[in-house]
Amino acid sequence: MMTGCSFPSPPAKAGSLLKSSFASIIRHPNYHWNVVQPPGFNLERLPLLIENTHKRLARVQLECLPYEEVLKRYDRPTTLFYLDPPYFGRKLYRYNFETQDYEKLAERLGALRGKFILSLNDVPEVRAIFREFPIKPVTTTYTAQKKSGRRYGEVFITNFAP
Ligand SMILES: C[S@@+](CC[C@H](N)C(=O)[O-])C[C@H]1O[C@@H](n2cnc3c(N)ncnc32)[C@H](O)[C@@H]1O
Repeated sequence: MMTGCSFPSPPAKAGSLLKSSFASIIRHPNYHWNVVQPPGFNLERLPLLIENTHKRLARVQLECLPYEEVLKRYDRPTTLFYLDPPYFGRKLYRYNFETQDYEKLAERLGALRGKFILSLNDVPEVRAIFREFPIKPVTTTYTAQKKSGRRYGEVFITNFAP
């Protein structure tokens, strides 16, 4: 049994943790394990994964900022923002949203110069807070679930006709 482990580099550590933790959530790690199947993550493929990720992100600009700052910095009439905030009523992240945060987001989006697509869970509170925008309901499955097949309601909220 392994009692401790070291990784050859930070990308190797990040890649291994993200690929083997449930839903890539590493704040409360809950690693995949199987009795009758090998793990889905093959450590031998890690160098290729890192190389492909490196190539894919070579010309991508990453920001780690509050969303307000991202909107302020990049808002142009030609910009399309995709916003994926925490689900309403769920506490899944280190930083979650309270009702007033969604209200503030709705107000900020109302003043946007560019376009946006916002995805959230389909609950009455979300529909009420974002009522001034077109709301398109969809159903989806969550791949990071023990039991597959269950459908969930989500909404795409936009400031343009989809
Ligand atoms: C639904 S997750 C986004 C997942 C991401 N789209 C992905 O595919 O990995 C919501 C994220 O919003 C972050 N968040 C919470 N408050 C925020 C804020 N004020 N500004 C920016 N991000 C925030 C949370 O920490 C969480 O990581």
